[in-house]
Amino acid sequence: MPTKVIIGADRGIAHSIAQQLHAAGNDVLAVTMGDGSDLVAAGIAVESGVNVTSEDDVARLAKRLESDGVEIDQLFHVAGVMFLDDIETVDYDDVRKQFEINTIGPLRVIRALRGFLVEGAKVGILTSRVGSLNDNTSGGDYAYRISKAAANMVALNLHHDLSKGGVAVQALHPGMVNTGLLDAMTPEDRERAASILVTPEQSASNLISVLDSLTVETGGKFQHANGDILPW
Ligand SMILES: NC(=O)c1ccc[n+]([C@@H]2O[C@H](COP(=O)([O-])OP(=O)(O)OC[C@H]3O[C@@H](n4cnc5c(N)ncnc54)[C@H](OP(=O)(O)O)[C@@H]3O)[C@@H](O)[C@H]2O)c1
Repeated sequence: MPTKVIIGADRGIAHSIAQQLHAAGNDVLAVTMGDGSDLVAAGIAVESGVNVTSEDDVARLAKRLESDGVEIDQLFHVAGVMFLDDIETVDYDDVRKQFEINTIGPLRVIRALRGFLVEGAKVGILTSRVGSLNDNTSGGDYAYRISKAAANMVALNLHHDLSKGGVAVQALHPGMVNTGLLDAMTPEDRERAASILVTPEQSASNLISVLDSLTVETGGKFQHANGDILPW
């Protein structure tokens, strides 16, 4: 049976995707930056210690897939960070850091693993609606927005390349999800967002449905976990 690979599964949305796919009887490989011990305890296969900014870590992951003879039919690239700023506080080292994780991270991982994707495989890259150019009506959050706008381009470019081999790639927005990522928000902003917050479990379930339905023909787009197509 082909394997479903989830990148960034230590916690949050990816952790929940790994648990749900495992509970549904799929072969799952959860890729974590930490030790992933709770996933191992739940009987889920884990490749631990993979930082998506490390060429060596990602090469080790690819080597494991090769030696285990793994074929991938779904890949969720979820790993990401969010640090917020404004015109006064934007820090160029932070811009580089978020770009390295949120933008180059999915490119590095999917480029390294593309040979394991079977024809008909589906790849979802978690970007963010705040990376949408059309949807930006407020400004601010320079580093995060830049990294996610560019991650959308990574997803579209990968779709153009990989769809030639029957693999669909989609940029995905998970919704506003109540995870540790939102610790970066001010309490006031978090309060304002409270009415639209969903749980990681709800978001994971929606994202799994969206990726299940993805085809080469419907790929190459920016899609909300609720199914809506979003403007770039
Ligand atoms: N939550 C939201 O409302 C929201 C909205 C839009 C988009 N997103 C996107 O959805 C994705 C998941 O977010 P989340 O809410 O689940 O956040 P989260 O709970 O903070 O989880 C982020 C995950 O990424 C991992 N990670 C961070 N840096 C990494 C690196 N360099 N290499 C490998 N793994 C790394 C973390 O591992 P550690 O725990 O070991 O640090 C963690 O497992 C992110 O890409 C985020 O930008 C989230």
